[in-house]
Amino acid sequence: MNKKEFARRRQRLIDIMGEDSIAVLPNAKVSTRNRDVDYIFRSDSNFHYLSGFDEPESVLVIVPGRPHGEFLIFCRERDLDKEIWDGYRAGQEGAIEKYGADDSYPYSDLNDILPGLLEGKEKVYYTMGNVPTFDHRMVGWLNHLRNASRQGMHSPTEIVELDHVLNELRLFKSSAEIKAMRTAAEISVHAHIRAMQFTQVGKWEYQVEAEIIHEFMKNDCRSPAYPSIVGGGENGCILHYIENDHKLKNNDLLLIDAGAEYDYYAADITRTFPVNGKYTPAQKALYNLVLDSQKAAIAEVKPGNHWNQPHEAAVRVLTEGLLELGLLNGKLETLIEKEQYRKFYMHRTGHWLGMDVHDVGDYKIGGEWRLLEPGMVLTVEPGLYVRNPENIAKKWHFIGIRIEDDVLVTKTGNEVLTQGAPKEVDEIEALMAAVKL
Ligand code: GLY
Ligand code: MN
Ligand code: MN
Repeated sequence: MNKKEFARRRQRLIDIMGEDSIAVLPNAKVSTRNRDVDYIFRSDSNFHYLSGFDEPESVLVIVPGRPHGEFLIFCRERDLDKEIWDGYRAGQEGAIEKYGADDSYPYSDLNDILPGLLEGKEKVYYTMGNVPTFDHRMVGWLNHLRNASRQGMHSPTEIVELDHVLNELRLFKSSAEIKAMRTAAEISVHAHIRAMQFTQVGKWEYQVEAEIIHEFMKNDCRSPAYPSIVGGGENGCILHYIENDHKLKNNDLLLIDAGAEYDYYAADITRTFPVNGKYTPAQKALYNLVLDSQKAAIAEVKPGNHWNQPHEAAVRVLTEGLLELGLLNGKLETLIEKEQYRKFYMHRTGHWLGMDVHDVGDYKIGGEWRLLEPGMVLTVEPGLYVRNPENIAKKWHFIGIRIEDDVLVTKTGNEVLTQGAPKEVDEIEALMAAVKL
């Protein structure tokens, strides 16, 4: 993402905030994995969205109309000793030169400088609860101003939820964002193809995961967007299975839900295919049902349709199919109304996708499902999971299937960003019958 993109985002926020206001946004904290070992740091998505600045111990401040500049970064100072151990720091000069801050101060000076920036403003855009240690400091600064009102200081009168404003901006992707999402999608497609080429009876789930990560990293994605789900057989029925430590068995399906993060943007793809390369008739019947429901749901992704229409379409096709296969009994409309399908399909058909895999943005406005608009990106991911096989024929037991694609709403309909990942039975079987990795 270039500097102009970040500047455009800040300007949009400034336009919404208006004068007499200030936004304060602390970055995420480093978290500990175990003694002396930290998880790799990743900026808070909103923080990155506004700045592109990715160091811990940093705070963004935006002050519309400030004569000396509207965009401030508090960050760590340069420190040769620390940089020898832990890596490069931009410092205050770097924050200005590389990231376009108008002013930058040491993180350790927050207590001295921030109250002065808050003073005299009416509205503070901030999100309580994201970084509790920072909340505590913020409350302290605001209390200090309130107590000093007798000396003529003016303390803010309104705290506004910053996340809510940013969530709405992030929901609509710019062309630069769509480009990054296309790249994340493309790389993830290749990772799924590689997984299909590699999979064989007797391999371990984590060995398949290794092929996926290899493909991500080789193509400039330092990390998956979320821990990959690689579940053979009945593990495919565990929606967020990440142990990935079982051996793959003959006649089982393998469900892989994996997506790369490219330049802070996520892909989120699921494919379900046979470990030995050939679906059993029962697996094929359920698989094609999920596939039909997914296609029906994708067809509902277009401007003017509301958020829940793809889900409603998927539920209808799945319920019809479960009736036909004898997995549900009763009247179609009653089964849908009473949500009987939930025994086999217990999650929703999708979510917004962007910098966070479950991305931000409201699904309802004024109590009604919101309408889809060009520039929104969502997943479409129906599934079926035969988890409780009581009173169900053995051939269906513990089959878990999900098919997930990433879909951009366009002016005229939609574009499936992940369509390169095979999902027709014939395509998958042909790919798996070809040369193995
Ligand atoms: N990978 C998480 C999800 O599909 O929602
Ligand atoms: Mn998803
Ligand atoms: Mn997924």
